[in-house]
Amino acid sequence: MFVDRLMLNTVMIITSHNKLKNYLETDLKNSISLGFVPTMGALHDGHITLMQEAISQCDFLVVSIFVNPTQFDNKSDLQKYPRNITQDVEFIKQHIDPKKLVVYAPETDDVYGNNPIAKKYGYDGLEQVMEGANRLGHFDGVGTILEFLFTIIKPDKAFFGEKDFQQLQIVKKLVEKLKLDIEIVGCPIKREAHGLAMSSRNERLTTDGRNKAALIYETLQKAAVYFKDHSIYKTQKFVEETFLNYPEFNLEYFTIASEETLKPVKRKYKNHLYRGFIVVHLEGVRLIDNIALPH
Ligand code: PAF
Repeated sequence: MFVDRLMLNTVMIITSHNKLKNYLETDLKNSISLGFVPTMGALHDGHITLMQEAISQCDFLVVSIFVNPTQFDNKSDLQKYPRNITQDVEFIKQHIDPKKLVVYAPETDDVYGNNPIAKKYGYDGLEQVMEGANRLGHFDGVGTILEFLFTIIKPDKAFFGEKDFQQLQIVKKLVEKLKLDIEIVGCPIKREAHGLAMSSRNERLTTDGRNKAALIYETLQKAAVYFKDHSIYKTQKFVEETFLNYPEFNLEYFTIASEETLKPVKRKYKNHLYRGFIVVHLEGVRLIDNIALPH
């Protein structure tokens, strides 16, 4: 058994990838199936839903908590990112049986040595739109950390929220390109009572801001109804004009795209799946959401 694995109130926390690998390959080698939920901490109910789904489908769960520096294009966003491992682990423990779980919470040098640099990935164009176009290098950073984690952990299934729908599609592509035998499971967006998609960033909003942010999902739902009888152009305008009435919101983009290619579309075709993707800024916080657009 390991000398420097840390038990925080009975949740096992491992901070070294070699120890984690060793633990999974020796102590757990007879475990039937392994689920994985990667996170950057600042955990909320949305993460817990992913963990609950993982543990309902698999025998044992690995949760990683690591604020990955290479996926931030903005230094101040990286610095401001909340970090509180004790609180995160306490929160997990309230919802998931600690006996069925290990937390991997490394420092940056355990992952990157002294060279936190992203590898370059091509995801057949999925990375060139929306978050990829607006946050340069973001998906190279996500690919780098996930390739590292997938290779160490070798999960049977990994669970991702649909809030970051583009990330979910990119992770599926990553696994396909790297020929990894991992099933990527997308889970529905977990929302606050008034509809705001759960996110670690919501913590940075004032109570008033958090209430006002309900407008995002309200507008997406209206757009989904509107889309049934209106063109893509008109639906786009509908969303843009709605936000013009609320100057406290700054709409970065609302894009209607094909669910499969994520390419923005100008015309609707039967039997194609579309989604509306939105990013707005409120009180200096960048909020992201999306909705399926049946037609
Ligand atoms: O979605 C996230 O929190 C991150 O992008 C992930 C998948 C944990 C990689 O750092």
